[in-house]
Amino acid sequence: MKIGIIGTGNVGMVLGLRWADSGNEVVFGSRRADSDDWQAIKERHGIDIASPAAAAEFGDVVVLAVPWSVTEKVIEGLGDLSGKIVLDCTNPLGPNFTMDLTGTSGGEQIAAWAKGAKVVKALNTTGSKNMGDPVYGEQPLAMLVCGDDVEAKANVMLLTAELGFDPVDAGPLSKSKYLEAMAYVWISQAYQEEWGADFGFAVLRR
Ligand SMILES: NC(=O)c1ccc[n+]([C@@H]2O[C@H](COP(=O)([O-])OP(=O)(O)OC[C@H]3O[C@@H](n4cnc5c(N)ncnc54)[C@H](OP(=O)(O)O)[C@@H]3O)[C@@H](O)[C@H]2O)c1
Repeated sequence: MKIGIIGTGNVGMVLGLRWADSGNEVVFGSRRADSDDWQAIKERHGIDIASPAAAAEFGDVVVLAVPWSVTEKVIEGLGDLSGKIVLDCTNPLGPNFTMDLTGTSGGEQIAAWAKGAKVVKALNTTGSKNMGDPVYGEQPLAMLVCGDDVEAKANVMLLTAELGFDPVDAGPLSKSKYLEAMAYVWISQAYQEEWGADFGFAVLRR
C-alpha cells in the first residue's frame, strides 16, 4: 500500500519503519523534512521524507500520528483528503494524560475535520513499543479497529496484521469513544499504576 505518515514521533516512526520493511511504499510527512537527519532512514528503509501535505497527497492511507492538541490544525494543512483512508492513531488527551470522554469521540471529530475521508480508528489502544513487537510468546496482542467504510477498515486490519497484531473488527466509527477509553486504561496502567510499556490487551476466544 502507499502510506503517508503524518508525524515522526514515537508512533509514526515505528509504524513507518515497519510498514516500509514489510514492502509498503512509505513517505513520512514531517515539519522537519529538510533536516539532514533523515539520510540513514532513506538509505536503510527506502522511505522518502516530505512535507505533511506532500505525504498526505502520496498516501492512499494517511496515518495521523500527531498530538491531539494540534490535530485539527495539522489536518487543515494536509489539503484534500476526500476518498483517502485516514488511519487515526490519536487519543484526545489533555495535560497530564487526562482524557475528555464526555463529548464526541476523537475519531468522529477527525471525520468531521477531514471531510470526505474514510476515517478508521486503530493503533490507539496500545503503546508504541508494542507496535514494534506485538507478540508475547505465541500470543499476539489484539488491535481493535473501527470505521464506517468496510473496505477501508479491512485494509487497516491487514496493516495491523502485518505488524503482528490480531486485528479485531470493533464496528463503526462511533465505537471510537470505547477505543479511546480503552487507551486511557492502557495509559493509566502503564504510567499511573507503573506497569511500564511491556503489556497489552489480547482477545481470547473459544
Ligand atoms: N506514544 C504512544 O505510545 C502512543 C500510543 C498510541 C497512540 N498514541 C497517540 O498517537 C499520537 C502521536 O503520539 P506520539 O507519542 O508519537 O507523539 P510524539 O512522539 O510527540 O510525536 C508527534 C509528532 O507529531 C508531529 N507534529 C506535527 N505538528 C506538531 C506540533 N505542532 N507539535 C508537536 N508535534 C507535531 C511531529 O513530527 P515532525 O516533527 O516530524 O513534524 C512529532 O514528532 C498522539 O495523538 C498519541 O496520543 C501514542
